[in-house]
Amino acid sequence: MARIPLISGNWKMNLNHFEAIQLVQKLSYELSGHDFGQVEVSLHPPYTDLRSIQTVIDADRMGFELGAQNCHTEASGAFTGEISPAMLAKLDVGYVIVGHSERRALFAESNEDVALKASAVFAYEMTPIVCVGETLQERESGQAANIVEAQVVGSLKSVTSQQLGDVVIAYEPVWAIGTGATASADDAQEMCAHIRTVVASIRKEASESVRIQYGGSVNPSNSTELMTMPDIDGALVGGASLQSDSFARIVNFKEA
Ligand code: PGA
Repeated sequence: MARIPLISGNWKMNLNHFEAIQLVQKLSYELSGHDFGQVEVSLHPPYTDLRSIQTVIDADRMGFELGAQNCHTEASGAFTGEISPAMLAKLDVGYVIVGHSERRALFAESNEDVALKASAVFAYEMTPIVCVGETLQERESGQAANIVEAQVVGSLKSVTSQQLGDVVIAYEPVWAIGTGATASADDAQEMCAHIRTVVASIRKEASESVRIQYGGSVNPSNSTELMTMPDIDGALVGGASLQSDSFARIVNFKEA
């Protein structure tokens, strides 16, 4: 089955809504000939930029999918400071990152929390991008495959077997995020293949359609080698997604 690659720009806590609009306009210009049916592109700005970006995408009929970086599990209620999946869906958000390693490490999100968020995202007809990945210590002690497997199983346990094939999983080794140290294409492929086997053990058919991104210091020089690996179906890009030229080159990995 041909899986359409998904390249996602995770802007993290960067760019106010004016800067965000500028970046989207530049990107749209640089990707003017791009076939979004061949390689999908999602942009994940901070919450305060979502409405502005939605309006620009809509007005100029851009091919980008709007994305969010996180959400709460409930539709509404007394959760000061939180944003609900219902609110995101109303802004035409298509993809929501859940369980990014920064949220796991800095905001104590467990696999259980991530599983509930993934299920809440599906409930509003959006697609979760479920992040997993081992720390350097876990890799060096030979635990990487087991840790990632436990994260995949735990973070997907509230998703129905019907929904499983539509999930996007982002394999992001923690030691590669924002460090300039990328996993080798072979190591990244090996772990992504392992993740696909884990999904197959839950539901065989789902493993053929589930998309698995690699993330962690992806840049225009390493993206082609990573993206052409058989079990890598796209990238979750942090730093390099904040510059239109580098992100456009990553999106165009097939032409490199
Ligand atoms: P990076 O971030 O590309 O800056 O390493 C990736 C991520 O955290 O999703």
